Amino acid sequence: MHATREPYDVLVVGGGVIGLVTAWRAAQRGLSVAVADPAPGQGAARVAAGMLAAVTELHHGEEALLRLNLASAARYPAFAAELEEATGRHIALRTCGTLAVALDADDRAQLRELHALQQRCGLDAEWLSGRECRRLEPMLAPGVRGGLRVDGDHQTDPRRLATALLAACRRAGVALLPARAERLLVRGDRAVGAELGGAAGRVSAGQTVLAAGSASGLLEGLPDAVRPPVRPVKGQVLRLRVPPAYAPFLSRTVRAVVRGGPLYLVPRVDGELVVGATSEEAGWDTTVTAGGVYELLRDAHELLPGITELPLVETAAGLRPGSPDNAPLLGPTALPGLHLATGHHRNGVLLTPVTGDILAEALTTGELPAPARPFSPQRFTSSSVLQEQPA
Ligand code: GLY
Repeated sequence: MHATREPYDVLVVGGGVIGLVTAWRAAQRGLSVAVADPAPGQGAARVAAGMLAAVTELHHGEEALLRLNLASAARYPAFAAELEEATGRHIALRTCGTLAVALDADDRAQLRELHALQQRCGLDAEWLSGRECRRLEPMLAPGVRGGLRVDGDHQTDPRRLATALLAACRRAGVALLPARAERLLVRGDRAVGAELGGAAGRVSAGQTVLAAGSASGLLEGLPDAVRPPVRPVKGQVLRLRVPPAYAPFLSRTVRAVVRGGPLYLVPRVDGELVVGATSEEAGWDTTVTAGGVYELLRDAHELLPGITELPLVETAAGLRPGSPDNAPLLGPTALPGLHLATGHHRNGVLLTPVTGDILAEALTTGELPAPARPFSPQRFTSSSVLQEQPA
């Protein structure tokens, strides 16, 4: 027989940055909260570069997502300060801006189109000649044809973010349950907690938040009508080190489209240089491949020829939680007692502060705040009747 733990107000399934920020914010509002994850703080954010790129990652048709991204980016300075105050840990928020550059005529045309979209959306982005780009970042290749200077797109260190959120949860009294949630418990027409793996047993909760990233759709016991349509989108990422003799190799994040694929280089104050990322529909595979590393280095070398001098210290692959419209699924589902906080795709780190605030509001009031309404999971809910399932 498995033990049944005492009921919590909220059980969060998944201890990545999205699950942890949800738990922290909910605990701050006086709710009793548990997080179920065998390795909290070790999700996709361990691989992510941490760009806060609301403006440079803008895409046609994603204006509602842009507003959410901007709202979250605006919260970052206060969020970072609050986390530091609560835990004594900083998340290396670097307000360095971003330069998006073009290497050939096709890239340049694509960047011009992005600039026009940014202008239509009222965003700050300045077109620079190739020479002006190289004046800002002298390590850029002489072939750079032009670029966009976006001083409002910053960066943070996602590993520090995960560590700080974990510490904040501990200090706020969140119970960290080191086990995987195997099955959602549904009684009558309500979610009432989850069955955890191993000897952990059943955890009862008034409300359950499914925040398991790309694995959110895999939880057993989820009625099909509320199963989130998320899928893994693999990203391979490299970490290099800039020795003092080469510093500052870059002074801001540099992005480019090379041969149609996005490339970015994110320089940290501590000398780490993150190069990303592939985007692969490869199921649950997290193998780092020779081809992935080759392509990233080949493209990075074309952009910054000096990069081959730097030590390569780490390669990694993670899984973004992709959703059908590239936007997150936030808040109550059609199954009472079940909320979602998943599907953040390319914007998980950026959307961390606003997700915590939105979920805390939904958990305490039952309502989604107005800016979050376009991201209700119910936009994907099928009309099938929710089946009653035994708890
Ligand atoms: N936002 C960067 C990425 O997902 O690769």
